[in-house]
Amino acid sequence: MTVEEKIGQLLQLSADFFDDGKAVITGPMTQHKISLETVYNAGSVLGISGAKKVRRIQKDYLEHNRLKIPLLFMADIVHGYQTIFPIPLALGATFDSSTVKEVSKISALEASAGGIHVTFAPMVDLVRDPRWGRVMESAGEDPYLNSVMAEASVKGFQGDHLSLENVASCVKHFAAYGAPEAGREYNTVDISEWRFREQYLPAYTKAIESQALLVMTSFNVLFGVPATANRHLMRDILRQELKFKGVLISDWDAIGELVVHGVAGDLRHAADLALEAGVDIDMVSFAYAQYLIHSAKLNRKTEQLINEATLRILELKDKLGLFEDPYRGISEEREFAVLKLPENMTKAQHAAEKSMVLLKNQDNILPLNKHTKLAVIGPAANTGEILGSWSWQGNPDETEPYLSALLRHFEYVNYAKGSGYHNLDPEELKKAVEVSYRADVIVAFLGLPQSESGEATSISDLHLPIEQRKLVSKLAALNKPLIIVINTGRPLILTDLEKMATAILISWFPGSRGAEAVSNILDGTVSPSGKLPMTFPRSMGQIPIYYNSYITGRPISESSANDSNHYLSKYIDESNDPLYPFGFGLTYANLNLKSVSLDKNQIYRDDNLKIISKVENSSNRDGVAVVQCYVHQEIGDTVRPIKQLIEFHRVNVPANKTVTVTFNISTRKFVSIHADLRKKIDSGKYKIMVGLDSQDLTTRYLFVKN
Ligand code: GLC
Repeated sequence: MTVEEKIGQLLQLSADFFDDGKAVITGPMTQHKISLETVYNAGSVLGISGAKKVRRIQKDYLEHNRLKIPLLFMADIVHGYQTIFPIPLALGATFDSSTVKEVSKISALEASAGGIHVTFAPMVDLVRDPRWGRVMESAGEDPYLNSVMAEASVKGFQGDHLSLENVASCVKHFAAYGAPEAGREYNTVDISEWRFREQYLPAYTKAIESQALLVMTSFNVLFGVPATANRHLMRDILRQELKFKGVLISDWDAIGELVVHGVAGDLRHAADLALEAGVDIDMVSFAYAQYLIHSAKLNRKTEQLINEATLRILELKDKLGLFEDPYRGISEEREFAVLKLPENMTKAQHAAEKSMVLLKNQDNILPLNKHTKLAVIGPAANTGEILGSWSWQGNPDETEPYLSALLRHFEYVNYAKGSGYHNLDPEELKKAVEVSYRADVIVAFLGLPQSESGEATSISDLHLPIEQRKLVSKLAALNKPLIIVINTGRPLILTDLEKMATAILISWFPGSRGAEAVSNILDGTVSPSGKLPMTFPRSMGQIPIYYNSYITGRPISESSANDSNHYLSKYIDESNDPLYPFGFGLTYANLNLKSVSLDKNQIYRDDNLKIISKVENSSNRDGVAVVQCYVHQEIGDTVRPIKQLIEFHRVNVPANKTVTVTFNISTRKFVSIHADLRKKIDSGKYKIMVGLDSQDLTTRYLFVKN
């Protein structure tokens, strides 16, 4: 390979460099002064799919590429390709890794048939600030839940042997993109390396241990240096410590942005910095394509780095079997045969049913009898825009709206929109009140449009839009049962709504079969079983608020109301407690944790502990519980979270039965990050807490001995 050809492999082009089958000289080319030769030497392209189109582009490309090195096709297949599953935050709410693995497996089946080789997923950035729009792409605020879902997703995408029905997984965004100051998109991340290692690094680590073949750099600064040029982050931590041997790709133009960040004087300097940090593929900044050749001619070190990067990319292409078959067996027939299979659409529905979180159910108004006279109201009631952001080729026009499914499930349904997402027409409002007046129960489908969730959608006020809150007030004034179903990709401030609603169901963005899933929950065919993967605040001023915080030197007591002492870690105008805590979600069955016991109350470091819990269902309905196990280390080298999730089990609890859930815990779960940043398991007293959410917990004590 010539140096130019090697550098070509490090270039990723956007889709607009390839028209329907051939490389074309278009705006981007002329703008970036890119020649056709450079296009036919590029190593990869993102954002193109479809068996017919990919075959034609690959064929044309190979006819022009001197060494016949196949082009790599990458895309953001995050929660489905054409069969769209609930958004990743909703999948986190299932607390069910088998569901997440299956979602990724089916997404890979469809995407690989569409010619995709690599998916830019899973996104495993820990998130604690719902103002940030991309919380919808994560599994939420907990390091362990994130880690479990990261492993499941990587294994779902890649399978055991990266077969032709699998795709390579590119875990993102390395690192800590989910902690932007003020929740503002692309903003500075400034957390200590101690907190990074304790809370943010575990999910990336688990994804890499699960053999993710690629990692994507994040846009943000971390430890004072943009991730894409951060040698400590990429060389010391990612390559050295985590032993990542795969391909490191920049995020979109992130190398170019090093100039904007002010750590590179120009694009050539940016190219050198990124290459030295170990970035193998330059996503569409053209820094590598235009400037690395100059540095390569100047010094051997650059050429050596280019050789290493090229080798990793060629190894990836080899693992994908592209040298045996550059088309990986794709055909229009095969693609057609696997897209939107009925059994996979049904799995999308089941995933949606498992993800929805019932936050309130006053007087057990839910489930509804099928003969109930319903008024279906709201901007989200009659739209197919329920797929969520990053839903690739999901088609809202082919997605059933909630109203349509409800008409199948209930005998008497009248509909009135009532309001838009952000507008309130007096006539529409009046009609909604009239329709509701004649109904037994009002079901209002509210929330945010999917366009206000995902990348570049940070929001400064998480209350529902005032127009929708006015609609709710008018409906609540009718003094009828008011059920509110909320489409959202993030926690919202529901404090005022909570007072007016009889029931609140979070539907997230539930995907292709969301309508049938919501209807099955409302009519009781299925009991809701989702649990919150992110805390829902009472007010904006509490943000960031998350369950695994540190106790501080002046904690409020359990009975904070009695705290006459003002000098405590609290607000004078708001509670410290969330509206709804992490891990919380109601079901239709009556489930209670009856007992918790440890098989020993002291263990040595390399021992295992059994935690035995019993969950009773005292109702006539089958139920699903998520038994959660938390730990608090009483004394640590560094402060310890007041509680930290270390295990969970989603378990079926049949009507009128009691089931036993046993956790087998190794003391590795008690690892903490010391002040010297080393991982240690400290001896001492640990509080073990078990419950069906993160607040109502039964406590036991354990001593760990040296
Ligand atoms: C975007 C996103 C990243 C995505 C990439 C390619 O800006 O940050 O998550 O994979 O560009 O679409």
